[in-house]
Amino acid sequence: MKKVIFSGIQPSAQSPHIGNYLGALRQWVELQKNYQAYYCVVDLHAITVPQEKKKLNDSIYATYAMLLAIGIDPNMSNIFVQSHVRQHTELTWILNCFTHLGELNRMTQFKEKSAKQTKIVSAGLYDYPVLMAVDILLYHTNIIPVGEDQVQHIELTRDIADRFNNAYGEVFTLPTARIVKETARIMSLSDPKNKMSKSDANLNATVFLTDKPDVIRKKIMSAVTDSKKSIEFDKKRLGLYNLLGIYKAVTGESEKEIENHFSGKGYKEFKSELAEALIEIIKPMQQKYTTYIADKTTLEIYMRQNAHKAAIVAEQTVRRVKEKLGFII
Ligand code: TYM
Repeated sequence: MKKVIFSGIQPSAQSPHIGNYLGALRQWVELQKNYQAYYCVVDLHAITVPQEKKKLNDSIYATYAMLLAIGIDPNMSNIFVQSHVRQHTELTWILNCFTHLGELNRMTQFKEKSAKQTKIVSAGLYDYPVLMAVDILLYHTNIIPVGEDQVQHIELTRDIADRFNNAYGEVFTLPTARIVKETARIMSLSDPKNKMSKSDANLNATVFLTDKPDVIRKKIMSAVTDSKKSIEFDKKRLGLYNLLGIYKAVTGESEKEIENHFSGKGYKEFKSELAEALIEIIKPMQQKYTTYIADKTTLEIYMRQNAHKAAIVAEQTVRRVKEKLGFII
């Protein structure tokens, strides 16, 4: 039996960005070959903060189409939309009753995201980590390929699973996060102290996988660096270090090779080579994306077929949990 991997992405922008891609999605493509993979467009998570109907709808299709375009194979991996599998909401209620308020109070993402809300903070935002735990636990996941920002949520997932198992016997598999250290936290181009984010108000901060070559060039050329000249991997030079990390991840060259290559050269040359390297890897994704997004009927067929398959596994888990609790099933 193959081990199971699960991961998710929120449809909360025009497309995933290079942080999502290098931090998580690129691993998804590789891992699908050797694992039973579940990849989920988590629309229920997206509505934990206000969304516009049309934008959300477009973003669900766009995110799904981009996952196919980067190489997720809908016949090999189970790629589905979260709200299509009702068991996610059903088990969330149950596991809410096994989650402590103190645990949710400690979640740093909740603190950050709730501080950014100008009107209200929804109960859904608070409960976000339990829904995420359910995503993972429904499918007996062993491994979760994610960026660093999700690690705390995965630790909570293990705690909830462990608590339930201790009380009722082994139902849930304890999952482990899989992080690629070097790209686990790609930073904003305009404020390298913060991570790159889909919802950044500053459009120059984030390179989206749907950005056209000229937009990518403009964003990279205007990325914040410092007044020094040499192109070197120096953790203290936050902006440059981030850009070099992206360059390294995209080209596969070693730090030494990169430093040698740019020795005696300045920011302008480095940034323009970085922009071209990014354009090069993004180009084939965009070509495929254009084809996928033009055919929503096919996207919907993939979505439904995969949701149907996911629901069979999810339903078995929910029934098992209900039985353990003493519910009449
Ligand atoms: P989301 O949509 O914010 O991001 C999707 C994936 O991209 C990673 N990521 C990054 N990696 C490196 N640098 C960055 N700047 C960066 N920004 C984002 C994220 O860590 C993530 O792996 N809660 C999740 C979605 C989710 C999920 C799940 C993930 C819901 N259920 C179950 C794993 C398992 C989220 O908001 O990801």
